[in-house]
Amino acid sequence: MKTITQILTETVSDAFEKCGYERSLGTVFVSDRMDLCQFQCNGSFAAAKQFRKAPFIIAEEVKNVLAENPVFLSVEVAKPGFINMTVTDEYLVELLGKVADDEHLGIPQTGNDETIVIDYGGPNVAKPLHIGHLRSAIIGESLKRLARECGYKVVSDVHLGDWGLQIGLVIAELEERNPSWECFKEDFTEGTVPELTADMLNEIYPFASQKSKTDEAFKIKAHQFTADLQNGRPGYIAVWKEILRVSVNDLKGNYEKLGVDFDLWYGESDADRYIDELVQILTDKKLLHESEGAMVVDVELESDKAPMPPVIIKKSDNSSIYATTDLATIIQRNRDFSPSKIWYVVDKRQDLHFTQVFRCAKKAELVPAETELELLGFGTMNGSDGKPYKTRDGGVMKLSDLIETVTNAAAEKLRSSEFVSEEDHTEIAKRVGIAAVKFGDLINHRSKDYIFDIDKFLSFEGKTGTYLLYTITRINSIIKKTNAENTDMKVSRLYTDAERELILAILLTGDVFRHAIDEKAPNYVCDNAYRLAAIFSKFYHDNHILGETDESKKKDWISLIAFTRKLILKHLDILAIEPVENM
Ligand code: ARG
Repeated sequence: MKTITQILTETVSDAFEKCGYERSLGTVFVSDRMDLCQFQCNGSFAAAKQFRKAPFIIAEEVKNVLAENPVFLSVEVAKPGFINMTVTDEYLVELLGKVADDEHLGIPQTGNDETIVIDYGGPNVAKPLHIGHLRSAIIGESLKRLARECGYKVVSDVHLGDWGLQIGLVIAELEERNPSWECFKEDFTEGTVPELTADMLNEIYPFASQKSKTDEAFKIKAHQFTADLQNGRPGYIAVWKEILRVSVNDLKGNYEKLGVDFDLWYGESDADRYIDELVQILTDKKLLHESEGAMVVDVELESDKAPMPPVIIKKSDNSSIYATTDLATIIQRNRDFSPSKIWYVVDKRQDLHFTQVFRCAKKAELVPAETELELLGFGTMNGSDGKPYKTRDGGVMKLSDLIETVTNAAAEKLRSSEFVSEEDHTEIAKRVGIAAVKFGDLINHRSKDYIFDIDKFLSFEGKTGTYLLYTITRINSIIKKTNAENTDMKVSRLYTDAERELILAILLTGDVFRHAIDEKAPNYVCDNAYRLAAIFSKFYHDNHILGETDESKKKDWISLIAFTRKLILKHLDILAIEPVENM
């Protein structure tokens, strides 16, 4: 359905047209001075320029048309030509009913069934999932859910880093430790490899990576192993498959704990079968040329202010690199899903890489010209010292350790709660902890760095996940106390200012979603969830629902707060935050 500002924009556009002006002048905004009016239109100023008339006169003309419309309680012109509008309470109640009946709760369906491929997560096989991948998972998951709610078809792909040097390092180190394994024999064609575990990988990768920094021979060996793997040496492929099995199992467990899930578990290795085709296309289009032994494509533009190096497709040893697999993956995605957009939720420091890849993809026409390829880059999660977040011993924190840390902090915080039973304590603490971390992240615009501050994130006050979960539990308990078995929306009229404010906030939610999806920014969803919760709290403070003796008023209020709960829960679901019944 249309949002309230879209509906009013049509009404005001009609009025402009009736007065002989262009319809496009009738855009309506929500007022930033709710004490004066609810909505505003500034179209008279542009009309004044066009028609060489005073804006005030134009506004008066339009106002006279609008004043006849019964949806308005008041239409006023403020000097020098603003049109200020307030709608009637009856109209607000009528629209509220429509939003409540709408299967999308008033969220505008702007997606037109177009397909978006979202590439997020991006963990590297054989390396533990660390905090650096946390933001990608949290932001990507909520963008996926947001886009689906707005009517897009979304395909999510984890795009594993499973084809690079880190695998060569691990296989080379395994070989040094276990030279007698069948899979390392030159003539190995098929057979099983010994079982590995996640703990083994967690130990081997950092060890091998460190070793390659001091031991030149080992480094060369690891590069050779990587190239042999990519060229399909059967023994290495067999170990690689075992590494992949163990790593993916471990990753799936971790993502599940975070409520993050992917439609596709493809990796860089899956792009391998498109690489020959990629090279063929680039060759046919005469884009590929040799430079210092490597095969590259120029992607520089005249307008570039900073140097733009060519993108390397094949290194001098004929191996593929990060850009190669990303380009080949674009061929695959375009073929499989014909998406209108491909979004990459990746650390913004990879900006140069993606600029090169996108330019090359467009130049080579791997996707239609109108397909949007976009890096939704995110900033860094910092510690209190303003530097990238580290564990106390200075290491990079593993995601599993982070979940444990926040769960413990939440458990401590909830220790004194009379509403949390011993038996539910751990589960509730986990949900509250994860909600705190996710909301603490998503409330910031994704491109910004932010400081990880678990005490702040767990606060019961302010813009926090904890406050939102707590608000839901308050509504739960009020509804329980009133024994209202049926909480369908059936508000019949409006009684108080706080109630009007709450209904307006509900009706303005559709616009927030429109903005959030346009900007690809879940922080607007966070802000609105907070706004709804804060206005609910004010409403509840001002109106004593439980003590209310007028039964129909009480019923209206209960259905209003029940709907507020439903809408806040919808926000939380989009943020992939699970609520709790009590806390
Ligand atoms: N594995 C990469 C990393 O850890 C992220 C992958 C992002 N996605 C992509 N299509 N390049 O940095």
